[in-house]
Amino acid sequence: MKDYIPRPDLLAGRVILVTGASSGLGRVASLAYARHGATVALLARDEARLETVYDEIVAAGGPEPAMFPYDLAVADDRSLDTLAGTLAHHLKRLDGVLHSAHRFYSLTPLELQTLEQWQTLMRVNLIAPFALTRACLPLLRQSPDASVIFTGETHGHQPSAYWGGYAVSKSGVETLTRIWADETGSEENLRINTLIPGQVATTLRSRTHPGLAPETVASPNDLMPWYLYLMGADSRAVRGQIVECQP
Ligand SMILES: NC(=O)c1ccc[n+]([C@@H]2O[C@H](COP(=O)([O-])OP(=O)(O)OC[C@H]3O[C@@H](n4cnc5c(N)ncnc54)[C@H](OP(=O)(O)O)[C@@H]3O)[C@@H](O)[C@H]2O)c1
Repeated sequence: MKDYIPRPDLLAGRVILVTGASSGLGRVASLAYARHGATVALLARDEARLETVYDEIVAAGGPEPAMFPYDLAVADDRSLDTLAGTLAHHLKRLDGVLHSAHRFYSLTPLELQTLEQWQTLMRVNLIAPFALTRACLPLLRQSPDASVIFTGETHGHQPSAYWGGYAVSKSGVETLTRIWADETGSEENLRINTLIPGQVATTLRSRTHPGLAPETVASPNDLMPWYLYLMGADSRAVRGQIVECQP
């Protein structure tokens, strides 16, 4: 997959919602999707950082994006339905969702993690991606080729000490993917997969491995062949898969 070369117009005419669009992989994927023709709906909490990504896309000549400042930690069905309705009203269609937002506290033993931390981890990393996808399903089903990409984590896949509630939430994302892919298996125009980025030089990485130089791991740009492949029509046959970018 790392050698995948997407057509310049791979995502032309498509509308793609990206959560966590203000930073790291979500930001770089938003820029890549826009560069390949997509109108990107940018979602995160920090409006100023979203505006910076908006400006970057416009400055690069991409289709004008939309911004959705929104806190996934306090999401409820009503506000998510409103969000999907606003998206439908202004952008008229939805062809993909990349769930890249996440909440992480720190690497600690389970006995030091609190119920409140676990609730937020589950809400941002697992429950909100589920509920946002559910709210967007009616729009996605109208697309001729819709792709939903959840973001997993190696420790959700292979748990180890200190990753605690974060790993558990990401493990749930894999289960969610498999159940939803099974339930929508007969819908040829809708596919649901999970991407596991592996080690990438972002803010998260600097918090989990503060002593390691960022240049020793992949950059977000290195992973864009996977992000573009799974979002575009070339991956139509890929369904219900847990795809590791750096196996
Ligand atoms: N980097 C790695 O090595 C690595 C490895 C494996 C998996 N991943 C996964 O890849 C994804 C992206 O990671 P990253 O390293 O690129 O992260 P990042 O740079 O820390 O960005 C996280 C994004 O999530 C948004 N966010 C956080 N809380 C939110 C909330 N309550 N509501 C809405 N948005 C929220 C942040 O924006 P605001 O602060 O503006 O809300 C930001 O845009 C995550 O799902 C992560 O688990 C990363």
